[in-house]
Amino acid sequence: MTVTTKALEKKFPKHVAIIMDGNGRWSEKKGKHRVFGHKHGVKALRKAIVFASEHKIEALTIFAFSSENWRRPKEEVNMLMELFFTVLGREVKKLHKNNISLKIIGDVSAFSDRLQKKISNAEALTENNTGLAVNVAANYGGRWDITNATQQIAKQVKDGTLAIDDIDESLVNNSLSLAEFSDIDLMIRTGGDYRISNFLLWQLAYAELYFTDVLWPDFNADTFQLAVDVFSGKERRFGQTSAQVSS
Ligand code: IPE
Ligand code: IPE
Ligand code: MG
Repeated sequence: MTVTTKALEKKFPKHVAIIMDGNGRWSEKKGKHRVFGHKHGVKALRKAIVFASEHKIEALTIFAFSSENWRRPKEEVNMLMELFFTVLGREVKKLHKNNISLKIIGDVSAFSDRLQKKISNAEALTENNTGLAVNVAANYGGRWDITNATQQIAKQVKDGTLAIDDIDESLVNNSLSLAEFSDIDLMIRTGGDYRISNFLLWQLAYAELYFTDVLWPDFNADTFQLAVDVFSGKERRFGQTSAQVSS
């Protein structure tokens, strides 16, 4: 009986993470400035959000700007900040209307005051929404996240509110950016590179990884569906044997 139910169960990811890479190369191929690709990347993001929302994915965590992206030419960094500001202002009402909640993860203290304000307004407006949760990683790094969690834990030990023996995986997890979400089930990276680039190091521990040569501005529902299909065909064993998980 259980076997039948299991067989019929369509394995669908609950939490999907995306490294949206390839905007620059997409524009260069068209002989345009990199900015052009970033702007088109926003359109692709909209498609990804619609797909996730329609398919009842619980959370979508996207990499928008890494802690290492400050190393880019100042002009590109400034333009990305400006784009972030404009897109937040333009899209947040639409997200809200669609019952989508928005959260920014990363060290937002490095952003301008006006961008920080925009971020907190967007989060406040959408925080009680019960549909898809969109987490935007901005000035985010997996190492930053773990370091930040370590500092919080160390403070509690110093205050005497936490004993060293009580530090376990669940406590570390709950001190990280995505504490309230389940682990990543499926991580998609566009742009043809096979690396994590300091994204969610802890939360990706048992994720299925899907890499595609599609450049981010060309990403659409078909690309997303393909990644989900590959995910659905995987046997996730979490350390057990195949016989154990299929019984
Ligand atoms: C990803 O596209 C967007 C950001 C990192 C902000 P890239 O800008 O990295 O595009 P490529 O990798 O240079 O093509
Ligand atoms: C990763 O892309 C970060 C984002 C998509 C925001 P990068 O283009 O910065 O990654 P690397 O530097 O090629 O690894
Ligand atoms: Mg890149």
